[in-house]
Parts: sequence; structure tokens; C-alpha cells
Amino acid sequence: MDFQKDSYGDELRLKAIEKFDLISDLEQLEQFKTELLGRKGSVTELIKNISTLPSDEKKDAGKNANLIKIFFQELIQEKYEQYQSNDGDSHQSIDLSLPGRRRFRGSFHPTTVVLREISRVFTEMGFDSAEGPEVELDEYNFQKLNIPLDHPARDMWNTLWVDTTNDSNLKPLLMRTHTSPMQIRLMEKQTPPIRIIVPGKTYRYEATDATHEWQFCQVEGLVIDKGITFAHLKSTLEEFAQKMFGQKRKARFRCDFFPFVEPGAEVSIDCFKCDEGGVCNVCGPSGWIEIMGAGMVHPEVLKGVGYDPEVYSGFAFGMGAERISMLKNGIDDVRLFYSNDLRFLKQFS
Ligand code: PHE
Repeated sequence: MDFQKDSYGDELRLKAIEKFDLISDLEQLEQFKTELLGRKGSVTELIKNISTLPSDEKKDAGKNANLIKIFFQELIQEKYEQYQSNDGDSHQSIDLSLPGRRRFRGSFHPTTVVLREISRVFTEMGFDSAEGPEVELDEYNFQKLNIPLDHPARDMWNTLWVDTTNDSNLKPLLMRTHTSPMQIRLMEKQTPPIRIIVPGKTYRYEATDATHEWQFCQVEGLVIDKGITFAHLKSTLEEFAQKMFGQKRKARFRCDFFPFVEPGAEVSIDCFKCDEGGVCNVCGPSGWIEIMGAGMVHPEVLKGVGYDPEVYSGFAFGMGAERISMLKNGIDDVRLFYSNDLRFLKQFS
């Protein structure tokens, strides 16, 4: 590196080199490094002081100071490497009888595990898989799902809105409250037959407790073709329940309201915990556990995406991924999923 005599910082550089030559061990090297390059080190100060110089000197000074910094960084690094290799040679020998160090092995997050399980079951049944945007238009999250502006059904989804007041060109935006808007996006893009699932993150304006999180994952399902009936919905979801919770499981379908399906259903499975006897704290003890919402895609929704409801029909369903995992694994608090406690997370692989 070329340093000019008497240029900015040159005096400091020469003095530092003298000091460097006197270094005789790792500790001194560390100290030298801190004195020079640490937060309050002399080279750091040198760089900071550039801002006080007259503006025509700043450019050259900056260049110089930077060179000085790099020069010492490299010098120190070289010395470090010297010490390290010396250490290995002269003082230490390898003890072959020592047990090996166990390598840290990571594991998948429990949400990833359950999303993969759910996806596998549906892929085996011939479903495709897609993902979609988490910041979504009101239009897709609500309006095109047969939930008009100001409709009270919106209260079913406590919504986190994106502030668009600064830009009047933006349409109302939100964090998607469910994966259902992807039903619309997929139908707008594709022509039937459609058989697809959509795993992904969803958001709600919730106070968190053992069964509520403001962010969680859902898996949406959509099937559209000629001649699809409620029987297809029932058999598909019963098959899912059995693959997920055991061949013995029975599925129950009861009327429920979601504006984008008609008829709508709440899907439950008979309680697997009750099989084990005793008082059941999983099902309440009603004997049934709700696992998802479902229904036949509403004719208005089909019309909205340009499908003729006289020709095409279909069903949709949506489930909370963490809820499925909680049931499967006996987890009693949804907050555990996202509080990053390794003692919890390590139990899944
Ligand atoms: N999107 C609904 C919810 O979040 C679930 C659902 C999906 C219901 C598809 C019916 C059909 O509550």
C-alpha cells in the first residue's frame, strides 16, 4: 500500500507500526486491535474526525484513513493466523482417546412439520399446492368471497389493516385473515378442473391467549369441476381425518355459516383422547373436536370469477395448521409455537 509522508493519519500509522513490532503474545495483539480498531480506537477516531475537516481535504483524508484501516486489519489478521498455527505445532498434541464433540443438529419447526404432513395427505389424493400473498386486497379477502363492504360477517375475522391513507391510489389493503382469498386468485387464473391446497400464514387482530395468536397458519383447499357434490367433500375430508388422526376416526359435518360457501359446514372428528378413557380435557367432554370449516363454493363466488354455476360446482375447506398440530401432539398453548423456546421446539424433528 502506498502511503504518502505527512498525509492524513500518517503519523498515527507510523507510531502504530512501532507498537505492533513490540507485540509478543495473543493478549497484546487483542489489546492492540482494540486500541486501534475498537469503537473508541485511534483509527476509528481518525475516520470520525474527517467530518470536521475543510471540505476540499475530506476526500483525500477519507481515502487515506480507509487505507490505514485496511492495512492494520490485514496486519492483525496475519499475526492472528501465525499465533494460531504456532499453537497447534508447539504446545498441543491431539488426544485420540477423547470422545468426539457431538454436532448440533437442528430440527424443523413444528408448524413446518404439520404443514408438510397435511400437504402430504392431500398430495397423495392428487392435490396441487400453491402459495399466495400475505398482504392482500380487501377485494380478495372479503368482497369477492361474497362479503361486501360493511357486511356484518366481516366481524368473523378481526382484521389487521394496512395504512393506505398516504396514497389515495391504493385500494384497501390488509393482512390476509384467512387463506380463502387464494380460492379467488386460483379460479381467476385457471380453468377447471381444479384440485389444490394453499398452505400459508394468516393474521388476525387478536388478544393472544392459549388458543389465539395474531399470526398463525392455515391450509386452504379447493376442488372445482363438473358434477362435484357434497359427497366428494365428505369423503375427501374424512379420508384426510383418518390419515392424520388414525384409521378409526369418524368425521362429523354440521351446518355452519361462511359467506363464500353454501351449504357451509363445521367439520369435527370423534375424540381420540376419549379412546384412552378417563375424563377428557381435549373434547370438552362432548366427544367431538372441531378441525376445520368447509362447504360447497357459493354460486355467487363462482359467478364472480366467471364460472357458470350451472356447469361447475366445487367445495372448499380451511383449517388452522397449529390447531391440527396441537391436537396431534397434545400441545395445550398455541403461543408456544412462536415464542422460540428451544425446549419446546427441539421436541419436533
Ligand atoms: N376461511 C375460513 C376461516 O378462516 C375457513 C373456511 C375455508 C370455511 C373454506 C369454509 C370454506 O374461518
